[in-house]
Amino acid sequence: MGSATRDNAFTYVNGALNWCDADVASIAQRTGTPSLVYSSARIRSNLETLRACAAATNRSMGIALALKAAGHASIVKSAMAAADAIAPCNLLCEVMSAEEYDLALALGFSPDQIVVNGLGWQRSLIEAIVAHPPFAVNVDNVSDCKRLSQCALDHGTVVPIGVRIVPSDAAMFARADEKMGIPEARALSDIAEIKSLPGVRIEGVSFHALHRCTSPGQMGAAAKNIAQQIAQLGLADSIKYLDIGGGLDYRVNLCPTDVAMRTFADEISMAFSAFPERVRLIMEPGRFVFGDAAIAATSVATRKQSATKNWLIVDAGTNLLVPIDTASFTVHAAVESADVDSFDVADGICSPTSVIASGCLLPRSTREGDILAIGNAGAYAYALSENWGYAIPPLYLLEPDGSLMLARSNREARSAYMRHWGLEG
Ligand SMILES: Cc1ncc(COP(=O)(O)O)c(C=O)c1O
Repeated sequence: MGSATRDNAFTYVNGALNWCDADVASIAQRTGTPSLVYSSARIRSNLETLRACAAATNRSMGIALALKAAGHASIVKSAMAAADAIAPCNLLCEVMSAEEYDLALALGFSPDQIVVNGLGWQRSLIEAIVAHPPFAVNVDNVSDCKRLSQCALDHGTVVPIGVRIVPSDAAMFARADEKMGIPEARALSDIAEIKSLPGVRIEGVSFHALHRCTSPGQMGAAAKNIAQQIAQLGLADSIKYLDIGGGLDYRVNLCPTDVAMRTFADEISMAFSAFPERVRLIMEPGRFVFGDAAIAATSVATRKQSATKNWLIVDAGTNLLVPIDTASFTVHAAVESADVDSFDVADGICSPTSVIASGCLLPRSTREGDILAIGNAGAYAYALSENWGYAIPPLYLLEPDGSLMLARSNREARSAYMRHWGLEG
């Protein structure tokens, strides 16, 4: 595995942009533009890094891929194949709805490899949980738990559950979604009520409080806070698992070396040191596994100047690269130049968020037809893609031998677009 795959995915070799040991111009030539290209090697390398981090905690840790971050079966299957090759791995799958649960089964995960999160559970999801207890079920609130309890009771069974709680100092954490989890102020009464319900038994605690986290200290603070709450709630003796959620940043931003990831492992170990070794860990990575594992290969359609800016209008749309605040796309020219200027890169549709990236330093000579690679395009791209303006581009997997596997063709993408609009594809 080359160093480009291991550390930073982009390098220039003799003036030509390389990504994951492949020449970007040649990728774009073979796939056409726009296209979304995942590197199987990078997905594998990201999983290997997580696996090493998990091993360093000295506890058994299940890695549950956050399905929502992937968006296409081929991407998940690439991760599953990589995980199979990294022994011992036991890849799990994190889902939030009945539809995601069914997807996980269709992808080949068995119920005991599924971690269920979410809230406002559909009846069919509750029935699936009761019929085949998943690897973990994290309850978000008393109401969902009552419905689960009733269904378990109807079937004469008891379902082991985890409870999702929230670190008390929410301001410390980048994204505390007030909707999610049991807040500290309610925890004592809500957990007492859940404990009193028949048909469910608390065996775990989960939290997902971080967002694009790059700080082991922040992860450690959240985990320490959760450990304290577990003690206060009298759950310490019944706990069999601790689910630390997702929320790591793109690996490319986060760990040029594995030493940095080791620090995450150390922080988690320290925070949970009071729990016996049999208490296992679960993590639910999304962005870390898929985020920097894809590029959008795109061509410049138009170069223009507004009152204050240079613009490059490209053929990849924000219908795929949804530039929400959770994304951070990087733009790279296929050909290196020392003479650069600042450009904003955008698509040709007028959505309020149609700027893919601002202030990109790109060759001053960039013009129509030039190839660009947009990095960090792999997480929540297909999953959040919008079916308007542009068709969602075709999808490829770049294999370690340099071959490109077509996972979703241009024709499929275009007919899906037409069908979405109620027309024959
Ligand atoms: C419960 C839960 N787990 C895991 C994830 C994955 O998060 P990330 O992609 O930031 O790792 C999410 C994302 O929203 C989530 O809600």
